[in-house]
Amino acid sequence: MDNPELEALLTPEALRLLDETPTPATNDDVLATINRLRKASHPIERVHAVMNQLSLRAKAREKFGDFAPRMLFTKEGLEQATRLDVASHHAGRFRAAGITSIIDAGCGIGADSLAFAGLGIQVTAIERDTATAALATYNLAPFAEATVINGDVRESDLSGAQALWIDPARREGATRLHNPEDWSPSLDWVFDIATQRPTGIKLAPGMDRDLIPERVEAQWVSHQGTVVEMVLWSGVVKREGVTRSALVISRSGSAEMVASADSPDADVGDLHGYLYEPDGAIIRARLIGDLARSFDATMIDASIAYVSSATAHQSPLMQGFQVIEQVPYSLKNVKALIAGANLSSLEIKKRGIDVDPAELRKTLPLSGSGTATLILTRVKGHKTALLAKRLDSLAEDVAGANEEREDNGQGHEN
Ligand SMILES: C[S@@+](CC[C@H](N)C(=O)[O-])C[C@H]1O[C@@H](n2cnc3c(N)ncnc32)[C@H](O)[C@@H]1O
Repeated sequence: MDNPELEALLTPEALRLLDETPTPATNDDVLATINRLRKASHPIERVHAVMNQLSLRAKAREKFGDFAPRMLFTKEGLEQATRLDVASHHAGRFRAAGITSIIDAGCGIGADSLAFAGLGIQVTAIERDTATAALATYNLAPFAEATVINGDVRESDLSGAQALWIDPARREGATRLHNPEDWSPSLDWVFDIATQRPTGIKLAPGMDRDLIPERVEAQWVSHQGTVVEMVLWSGVVKREGVTRSALVISRSGSAEMVASADSPDADVGDLHGYLYEPDGAIIRARLIGDLARSFDATMIDASIAYVSSATAHQSPLMQGFQVIEQVPYSLKNVKALIAGANLSSLEIKKRGIDVDPAELRKTLPLSGSGTATLILTRVKGHKTALLAKRLDSLAEDVAGANEEREDNGQGHEN
């Protein structure tokens, strides 16, 4: 393995030291920890490797929660790794389709394999890079269901499992994502192998749609408001009649929308009392029209991804706002709108208007006490500023008011 840092890390002494050393909370703690470890006669390479892992484990908490302190990472491996929440959805989908064995072709540090093994699926994890394969072996060691092989998937026998999971690496420096050779393994190889057995292929959400093969289900996945990936499903893990889907995973659970094709846009209509911003996964999957029609909403402009309806709807698939006031967009009008609203904090959203929200905020009078959202957009082609309240904040206000009433009620009884 041509990686001196990992060679220093993958020794019993370094791994013991890593588990015994608390994560430094501040820069001063980092220096103090290094000094303490050096005074205890640990070689500089070991100290460096341990400190780096502590820092990576701290970052990894966001993706792996309580698993992070039991795992090992490289910087790239962590960046490329699938979040455990999201990986669990993939694994659940394979299991629900009756899959009991899978090959993870290019497993990285093993995040997806961890989720497969965690659900009891036998997983063979293949990784070309020796150092990364070593870390995957460490990370998957607690799972009897998982085996790691250091090798090239294009030269491996892939016939020994019912299904395949492929999360190709993007070639270094590749940004345009319309050339199949920008991925490793190349997309031509990946798409060909995916015709042979049930397969999930994880790709970048912004990948050129022209590359999506026919007869697969393309699923855009968002996690806590960010679109994190597009997965192509084929074989029994593809749903009958579905070619486009959006999976929205949030703290409160997950929700999905499926379709047999890109949905035609909804009609453009008036701005009503409620405005909705579809989740990024819905937008990427081109399902805005279906979402709007599902609750009788209309687009506010043919080219803007906001929809509007006369009634309040709460759904994980979109963020909802109650429109309080609207004015034609100009700096003067926006200042007057905000001045009249007595606000201390303001969220600014924009779509279809070229403005820098951070610069705009500096010019607005925010010396009051309330909170609101300013939405700068186009309504039927007209630049418009909307003062709005988030529906979830209104729900919290109602819950808060109810709690207050309950407290008061108890006070009276006592
Ligand atoms: C995007 S990462 C996988 C991340 C993984 N799914 C996770 O969640 O941790 C892709 C991995 O595929 C590996 N890889 C690329 N081409 C390969 C090949 N031909 N054979 C085996 N592994 C390969 C890369 O070294 C990289 O670690």
